[in-house]
Amino acid sequence: MSRPCRVAPSLLACDFSRLADEIHQVQEAGADWLHIDVMDGHFVPNLTIGPVVVEAIRRSSQVPLDVHLMLDHPERYLKIFIDAGASYLTVHVEAPGVANPGQMQQALGEIRRLGARAGVSLRPRTAAEAIRPYLDQTDLVLVMSVEPGFGGQAFLPDVLPKVRQIREWFAGELSVDGGITAQTGRLCREAGANVLIAGTAVFRSASYRDAIHSLKG
Ligand code: DX5
Ligand code: ZN
Repeated sequence: MSRPCRVAPSLLACDFSRLADEIHQVQEAGADWLHIDVMDGHFVPNLTIGPVVVEAIRRSSQVPLDVHLMLDHPERYLKIFIDAGASYLTVHVEAPGVANPGQMQQALGEIRRLGARAGVSLRPRTAAEAIRPYLDQTDLVLVMSVEPGFGGQAFLPDVLPKVRQIREWFAGELSVDGGITAQTGRLCREAGANVLIAGTAVFRSASYRDAIHSLKG
């Protein structure tokens, strides 16, 4: 079954010299959320956006901000990103600082206490079982379908059984991130995803509206 779903354009692929304009255009075109990739040069080999920019995005947007922390020790940065405007705040199950159950439970609890929705993410090679203990404390599961770090990579179809497995366990928001196109997005929806994150497929398209529409299915 393919379900209707939300689309969260990943700002990593936008033209940052025209950030507010890009945000207005994707919102007009039907973006449900905005996806923001935060990278620290440790958990992933790239550096991107910090809380100052998230706060600027918040002031330029009306839709929920889906903030994806690709950081070591994300637990040190929860409050600063929620204060900056994160609606959903997602940490990686592999990250130092939240890699054991006590640490992860504490981080997810803190995100909710601070008023945001709690997300947990896993790399393509991490098994679904790694996040299973946390699902009752989780609002969003973000399945990575490329190695985190860069936009524009090819979708890894091996993650589809994992999406299907997580959907059997979890009724909340289930997103897939990396290499999403109209074709791979359809496979993810059929596997149970209800949120598609797409950078290149939206921001490098001729029509943001057509791109977002084709992802919604
Ligand atoms: C990669 C990021 C993704 C990325 C997706 O580490 O988490 O959100 O921006 O970009 P595309 O859609 O181009 O694969
Ligand atoms: Zn992301």
